[in-house]
Amino acid sequence: MSTDPKAAAKEATGRHAATYVADDMRVGLGTGSTVHFTILDLGERARAGLRITCTATSERTETLARQVGLEVVAPDVIGALDIAIDGADEVDPDLNLTKGGGGAHTREKIVASMAPRFIVVVDESKLVERLGPFGTPLEVLDFAPATTAGFVTQLGAAEVTTRPERSDSGNLLMDAHFGAIEDPVALAAKLAAVPGVVEHGIFAGTLVERVVIAGDDGSVRVLMH
Ligand code: 5RP
Repeated sequence: MSTDPKAAAKEATGRHAATYVADDMRVGLGTGSTVHFTILDLGERARAGLRITCTATSERTETLARQVGLEVVAPDVIGALDIAIDGADEVDPDLNLTKGGGGAHTREKIVASMAPRFIVVVDESKLVERLGPFGTPLEVLDFAPATTAGFVTQLGAAEVTTRPERSDSGNLLMDAHFGAIEDPVALAAKLAAVPGVVEHGIFAGTLVERVVIAGDDGSVRVLMH
């Protein structure tokens, strides 16, 4: 365990989430520095005999999962999942999430939606009263990006910035800055209807079974609806 409290918290929650995984499960693996520890833990258990099949939300996660000895297949091959585990950038009291800090939110939303149990792993710093301060990640088709960003501005974003890197699918990654979002579910519906937005990073709390939260002291607590 790391001596850095933030890193220790990520490891505590990441490893806790791995305890929800049992033999013969089909597991969706998220992306990020917290679920990294879930993947390490599952790899350790797989080497000790745990039998699971996984699908990955990013090339980075797929590489790590294979390196630690997990079987990884494409979402369409696995077909359905028993559980998915992923990090988040913001969590509000209704368990609505902002995701996509790592630019993987489109694949993450597909994988989370395939699982009846979606477990979210965060440290305390991710808890917010309202989504928004992080920015809302967008994956955008590289056809008319300025026009698409303009549509998002019309929804109330003060600024829409473009990241230098692209998604694993080759699309642009942008961040829309709405300030504190009053109604994330309504905004999610509006963003989903913007031509050119492949996917946005607001995940409705109804997708989430539980949020596992680690404090800087390594303690772990669970939030559920
Ligand atoms: C990637 C994500 C991550 O889950 C999110 O950014 C949290 O990452 P971390 O656990 O490193 O803080 O949505 O697209």
